[in-house]
Amino acid sequence: MTRDIPTSIDETIALLQGQDYVCGRDLGTVAFLALKLGKPLFLEGEAGVGKTEIAKALATALGRRLIRLQCYEGLDASSAIYEWNFSAQMIAIRTAEATHMADRDALQDELFTGDFLIKRPLLQALEPHPEGPPVLLIDEVDRTDEPFEAFLLEALSDFQVTIPEIGTIRAEEPPIVILTSNRTREVHDALKRRCLYHWVDYPDFETEVAILRARIPDCAEALSREVVAFVSRLRGEDLFKKPGVAEAIDWAQCLIALDVLSLDAELVSNTLGALLKYQDDIARIAGSEAARILEEARLGLAAE
Ligand SMILES: Nc1ncnc2c1ncn2[C@@H]1O[C@H](COP(=O)(O)OP(=O)(O)OP(=O)(O)O)[C@@H](O)[C@H]1O
Ligand SMILES: [Mg+2]
Repeated sequence: MTRDIPTSIDETIALLQGQDYVCGRDLGTVAFLALKLGKPLFLEGEAGVGKTEIAKALATALGRRLIRLQCYEGLDASSAIYEWNFSAQMIAIRTAEATHMADRDALQDELFTGDFLIKRPLLQALEPHPEGPPVLLIDEVDRTDEPFEAFLLEALSDFQVTIPEIGTIRAEEPPIVILTSNRTREVHDALKRRCLYHWVDYPDFETEVAILRARIPDCAEALSREVVAFVSRLRGEDLFKKPGVAEAIDWAQCLIALDVLSLDAELVSNTLGALLKYQDDIARIAGSEAARILEEARLGLAAE
């Protein structure tokens, strides 16, 4: 079901909560403003903190289509906007030759029409959609290179693209744009300036407990609190890759699968693979360090 964009910060937060996305007031404020002002939302932050998920939650909550442009090194404009379907064009040419339909000009015109156009995410996002402007997720923009950024900057400024053989396609209503970055490199200021920027940090204790509650309703509250207390302390350690919210959720799911009611040091060491994905990190934490962090987490919980 389609619905209009929210009219307040509280409504925005509630809308996301309805999709089991727990959103603090800071993120709720920029998300609301991005929707209200029609500005792209630029979310930067560590891995697994809910950057991509907010676009999905927003699209579902608003009943809009989610169009995802996954960025990678070497992504070029044609893979992002459109490509001509060469194989279909070749077949059309062969068929025309075989049936002696040899009007070259007519054939040429026909080959460069919508029938032979493969629409990539940016073009799809500019087209009208019956349910209203879609959510365009430009995911992991830091993985692309500067020329692509410059191209994006242009596309996001006027929400139009030109296809030489067809003409200019302009969005009647601009899409809701969300860009994410893991900050493997700095994204250019000019692109960020077009957007509302928000750094998505690891959630605070109560927010992360609320996320577990929303995502894994069958996880007992006491276990959730232990999990979050342990994971947030673990993030304070000198690790190559810190666990995100996604890892905390995975870990809690593992513990439930093992019928665990409460953590112990050996169990933590044996299940660290849900939280840490580098052998060096696991080797550092497994054993006495895990026991120490667990002890500190327990003390922290008891002091609440
Ligand atoms: N605020 C939140 N509310 C509910 N679930 C969340 C929240 N943040 C993260 N999650 C959970 O964590 C998972 C990972 O989130 P997501 O994929 O959005 O992370 P990300 O920041 O895009 O990470 P990456 O940089 O690795 O792509 C989601 O599938 C979701 O289950
Ligand atoms: Mg992501």
